[in-house]
Amino acid sequence: MKVLVTGGMGYIGSHTCVQMLEAGIEPIIVDNLFNAKEAVLGRIEALTGKAPLFYHGDIRDEAFLDSVFSAHDIAAVIHFAGLKAVGESVSKPLEYYDNNVNGSLVLARCMEKAGVKSIVFSSSATVYGDPASVPITESFPTGATTNPYGRSKYMVEQCLSDLFVAQSDWSITLLRYFNPVGAHPSGTMGEDPQGIPNNLMPFIAQVAVGRREKLSIFGDDYSTHDGTGVRDYIHVMDLADGHIAALNAVGSKAGLHIYNLGTGTGSSVLDMVEAFSAACGTSLPYEICPRRAGDIAQCWAATEKAERELGWKATRNVAEMSADTWKWQSNNPNGYTSV
Ligand code: NAD
Ligand code: UFG
Repeated sequence: MKVLVTGGMGYIGSHTCVQMLEAGIEPIIVDNLFNAKEAVLGRIEALTGKAPLFYHGDIRDEAFLDSVFSAHDIAAVIHFAGLKAVGESVSKPLEYYDNNVNGSLVLARCMEKAGVKSIVFSSSATVYGDPASVPITESFPTGATTNPYGRSKYMVEQCLSDLFVAQSDWSITLLRYFNPVGAHPSGTMGEDPQGIPNNLMPFIAQVAVGRREKLSIFGDDYSTHDGTGVRDYIHVMDLADGHIAALNAVGSKAGLHIYNLGTGTGSSVLDMVEAFSAACGTSLPYEICPRRAGDIAQCWAATEKAERELGWKATRNVAEMSADTWKWQSNNPNGYTSV
């Protein structure tokens, strides 16, 4: 089975391509390399023994995308491509809406023309906003987002849901990721943020490897077990497997399918610092700073629906997330440009 993977050179996409190839699914990658390095291809091939087909191009380029669809018998699309920095989305809203919303519309239009009616979309727990309680089930209200990035994810969910209302023979799967972290256990693939990392785990990893002096912890006065923010960190390999489970379980079943991909367990910032310190064998310097605007106190997933309907459950714990991130970061201190 051939599956078009937009954004397949990026962090989550690249790990998903490895797991697809291992499962006998052929990824056809489309990526504009805005936030990825071409070196990723060689890493995928080294791990799987297979070189995925890669098209360097932009999903907003409709003629280009049409040509990819007409060159292959594509069964489904996994749509990762997009911009994802929350803070940047506030200062560059038009770029975020153009890339994330317009890009998804162009993709859906090309799929329609090509008669491809199965899409798995990378959504985010951010669509739930600040939840009234935890764990968050898929039926919690969505849309109370606090930034253009989050709104762009919510808008694409709405566009695809409306598409399903109009054309009920589509299979539309919205996967709401919680906090993806970790790396391939080989240490050859991982997250490679450009500039100063926005997210906790890559920042911790760069402190551990000596690229950053210390971690700033954004607030220790939340009503959580130790006062720092609590999130549902999920290993990127579990997340990758979740996509394959979704393709297999519902990818050829008409419907609007919505799943949380998380572990069901919340960990605080201090829990993550402790887990990472254990993985890298040294205690990591940090300072307590004011809260970051827009952050919520705590968030974790209800996982029963994915478990029941996809037959998928995350299995890797924070110790493995930290160990694999450390292996990647210490082997590749400057990311994909290290080797
Ligand atoms: P990433 O930036 O590593 O990967 C995205 C990839 O898409 C990159 O390789 C980039 O070059 C490519 N891309 C961007 N715009 C494109 C375009 N117009 N045309 C073609 N390619 C384009 O990000 P990621 O962490 O792998 O995230 C993948 C998806 O998952 C994104 O849609 C993101 O919003 C979503 N998501 C990520 C997280 C997270 O914390 N990483 C959480 C929830 C949801
Ligand atoms: N944090 C720090 N210091 C840092 C970075 C983060 O203390 O340098 C804290 C945050 O305050 C928060 C926790 O670590 O309590 C996690 O923060 P991240 O930035 O790693 O992740 P977020 O939960 O804020 O957001 C992430 C993605 C979003 C996505 C969301 C889904 O960045 O794109 O998860 O749950 F929508």
